[in-house]
Amino acid sequence: MTSFLRPLAYRYRWIYDTVTAVSSLSVGGVEHLRGLGVDALHSRLQTGAAVLDLCCGSGEAAAPWLAKGFQVTGLDVSPLALSLAAQRHPDLIRVEGLAEDPPLADASFDAIQLSVALHEFPRREREQVLQACLRLLRPGGWLVLVD
Ligand SMILES: C[S@@+](CC[C@H](N)C(=O)[O-])C[C@H]1O[C@@H](n2cnc3c(N)ncnc32)[C@H](O)[C@@H]1O
Repeated sequence: MTSFLRPLAYRYRWIYDTVTAVSSLSVGGVEHLRGLGVDALHSRLQTGAAVLDLCCGSGEAAAPWLAKGFQVTGLDVSPLALSLAAQRHPDLIRVEGLAEDPPLADASFDAIQLSVALHEFPRREREQVLQACLRLLRPGGWLVLVD
């Protein structure tokens, strides 16, 4: 998302939803975009496995994981996004924090999803986010990037 649109899109949901709808056309639409992470990994994980949706926003990309019965934690830096997530997806465990330094225990997730978020970080912070993913994943865990 271009930088001038980003703050507006976080403030006004219709802008966010419109930008997402248009930019997801190349992968077959919003619903398909939202399902890419879980479609890639669900057959590799146990039912009820612990999944982290890092930079979860209002939880739209966490929803398909919840629908499949995974225990999903969503982390985001924005309290506004997390309160929307609470309304839309009450089963999502919500954590406010930085993806570069998540306030979560080592080796506590079987899978981590980063959906439409990694591109927002400058190179140095992007490396910190990926290092954090390595710390949070259990041995043999999976990271899925949708971007
Ligand atoms: C483009 S949205 C994507 C939201 C969601 N993953 C999705 O697929 O719809 C990017 C999200 O990253 C969050 N974010 C940006 N910088 C962050 C950071 N340093 N730590 C945690 N979340 C961050 C924003 O608040 C926003 O909710």
